Amino acid sequence: MTSQPIPLDLLPDSATIAIDGSLSLGGCSVSELAEQYGTPLFIYDEDHIRERCRQAVAAFGVDRVIYASKAFLCSALARLVSEEGLLLDVASGGELFVVLNSGVSASRCVLHGNNKSVDELEMAITAGVRHIVVDSFDEIGRLEVLRERGLPIPQLMIRVTPGVEAHTHEFIATGQDDSKFGFNLANGDAAKAIARIQKNGCGKLIGVHCHIGSSVFAVDSFAKAAAVMATFAEPYGLEELTLGGGLGVAYTEGEVAPTITEWGSVLLDACQALRVQAKVSVEPGRAIVASSAITVYRVGTVKEIPGVRTFVSVDGGMSDNPRPVLYGSGYEAFKVSDVVAARPMNARLVGKHCESGDILIFDGYFPADLEVGDLIATPVTGAYGHSMASNYNKVPRPAVVFVSGGTSRLVVRRETYEDLVRFDVG
Ligand code: LLP
Repeated sequence: MTSQPIPLDLLPDSATIAIDGSLSLGGCSVSELAEQYGTPLFIYDEDHIRERCRQAVAAFGVDRVIYASKAFLCSALARLVSEEGLLLDVASGGELFVVLNSGVSASRCVLHGNNKSVDELEMAITAGVRHIVVDSFDEIGRLEVLRERGLPIPQLMIRVTPGVEAHTHEFIATGQDDSKFGFNLANGDAAKAIARIQKNGCGKLIGVHCHIGSSVFAVDSFAKAAAVMATFAEPYGLEELTLGGGLGVAYTEGEVAPTITEWGSVLLDACQALRVQAKVSVEPGRAIVASSAITVYRVGTVKEIPGVRTFVSVDGGMSDNPRPVLYGSGYEAFKVSDVVAARPMNARLVGKHCESGDILIFDGYFPADLEVGDLIATPVTGAYGHSMASNYNKVPRPAVVFVSGGTSRLVVRRETYEDLVRFDVG
């Protein structure tokens, strides 16, 4: 229960509040951006993303940070993170295509995926990705076939499930034995995979990889995984060790997440204590982009059902942010024209989709004078929002703008109704 204004530390770094209480990001008025580009609108603070990239590179080193592009990917973002010295993790042929199409070299890409097709593997090897993280014996079989067909020999890592519980939502925990990802360490599959690759020469094995899960706040879970992985990898004398992404961020009042710098020191201290000789890399997605963005919506309906609940409906919903529905994730909201307003009104923030589960905030707090036509924003929507957006109810996906130094640039245009029928052929 709160009637407090939105905690300002949930807003992107460049957020400023004018004397009239309205919000600017990157020197641009958010309500003017909403007028210019329409709503719903994802606004990313470009300098905020660069700062998180720089923190990560300062902690782990150039080319030791691999941005997990599934968190948010478009051409402008691919170029931005690459300029900042990050490599890119792509988990499908589509993600690889977007990165290559942006002009970033394949040599900066790492291919992931628990079910890569022959076509995806061929595309990645032909393009010349930095390495492929192998996930199954079936995939090794596919790599053997491609090798026999005369494709170049790719660099490989194997993904290992280290048996470490990540203390996060079960859908985004991946390090435990009961996982569709990677080779099980405890039952000997990981060792067998290494033996098979080293014997058959379908690739040059350069290291091992693990990713214990996403939205992890307990940095000691990462240190535990590092210890398991270092012990496993040590006898093989491999050059590289990737310890995954997964660092959590604060979404709501009172949540405190470790910084990228803190994550770096815990992980690297653990590796140093274990005398790890290999080069250590990480794969953050959320920690790079989540808090850099807000989503701006326009309120269309305020429905008060006395004694039951008030519903505030906006012009987006589960199609631009499915996280509350999928994981029960919490968010906060505030009024763009009055950021520091008290928020005494309890209401459910919902979207415009045809189902009751279309919820953005289950139990939110809003200014008492909130009314139809107001702009409201949810902060910390930069990761797994636009990237998991859908066209449910044939709602066009929102535009994305980057702001910096007083200017805005459209990096993903809003979909049109024509886009909705572009793939219909009959
Ligand atoms: N590396 C691998 C192999 C991954 O599978 C992932 C995320 C990452 C790195 C990056 O994790 P991050 O640093 O972003 O936590 N849709 C969910 C998150 C799914 C994460 C999938 N893999 C959500 O909205 O919370």
